[in-house]
Amino acid sequence: MTIDALFEAGSAPEAGALPTITIPRPDDWHVHLRDGAMLKAVLPYTAAQFARGIIMPNLVPPVVTVADALAYRDRILANRPQGSDFEPLMTCYLTDRTDPDEIERGFGERVWIAAKLYPAGATTNSSHGVTDLAGLSPVLERMEKIGMPVLVHGESTDPEVDIFDREEVFMENTLLPMLKRHEGLKVVVEHATTSGTVDIVRVHAPRVAATITPHHLVINRTSIFQGGLRPHLYCLPVAKRESHRQALRKAITSGESCFMIGTDSAPHMRSSKQAECCSAGVFGGVTALQTYVQVFDEEGALDRFEAFASLNGARFHGLAPNRGTVTLVKKPGVAVAAVPIGEEDIVVFRGGETLPWSIGGTGA
Ligand code: DOR
Ligand code: ZN
Repeated sequence: MTIDALFEAGSAPEAGALPTITIPRPDDWHVHLRDGAMLKAVLPYTAAQFARGIIMPNLVPPVVTVADALAYRDRILANRPQGSDFEPLMTCYLTDRTDPDEIERGFGERVWIAAKLYPAGATTNSSHGVTDLAGLSPVLERMEKIGMPVLVHGESTDPEVDIFDREEVFMENTLLPMLKRHEGLKVVVEHATTSGTVDIVRVHAPRVAATITPHHLVINRTSIFQGGLRPHLYCLPVAKRESHRQALRKAITSGESCFMIGTDSAPHMRSSKQAECCSAGVFGGVTALQTYVQVFDEEGALDRFEAFASLNGARFHGLAPNRGTVTLVKKPGVAVAAVPIGEEDIVVFRGGETLPWSIGGTGA
């Protein structure tokens, strides 16, 4: 534990002293970096906050082969800011035609660390996703055998199911049977948004874990309609009611090792968000750590922040924690409101707001 105890137990803080917390450099276990000009624009923000990131494969076309993942990895490395050692951890996009041998080859050659399961049509760029989970069994069996995790977008694609119930229905109808069928399969339930989901994860830990986004910790479904429709708060899974937000905050601050950072930072151009049909995705990569640490502070659990941010995910994926540290300071700061791309820009989640915590710097 490396909390820099400017507030020592029992001692009043000096006037002007600021609480700080220093932790091993954290990782983002779920991030969309996109490609081309957008990759170039957003990568510096993720690389400033995180040492490693699990890179989502939902490009157009998606990352489905070892060759695709190697080429995408090279494009990410080529776009790192000068001096950055950010390490992209690649993933493979599962389809109805995924070949178990290709999956095993990419994992064996350490090209990818996990595969992403999008139910077809569940979210952005998921049209090539899986339509028939039973048909995926040979792939999941192989992954179970080689210890390769599957990262699951857990929402029902049944159009009859209410959008606020899609996660719950998926958990009951699809995830639980899948966990039963594949008893040794390592699963990450991505961007958990409900109390029921975090309970299921707890019961099946440690082979099951969950990522939790910053935005689902600070907004609820009412926020999306606060004073009018807020397109920049629309993502999938959509934020749920307040009791679920509270359950997520309790889960990450509980000290349980099955919960880890996953920002789901998902940039879209402002014009795609402020549109007749708004794309799903919240661009949280700029303000992620400031938001997470604020939540731990508000919940009186700063002593548990290090495990959530820097240890739990690495342990789940069988990796060592990072060397080097990042220090967060309880000093008000304002993040950029938007990130420019050519003539356009991407709106930053909580950008332009005064946030109570700032990133203080990194250490060796
Ligand atoms: O809101 C979302 N945006 N949810 C996803 O699952 C995908 C993501 C994206 O790629 O934009
Ligand atoms: Zn995502």
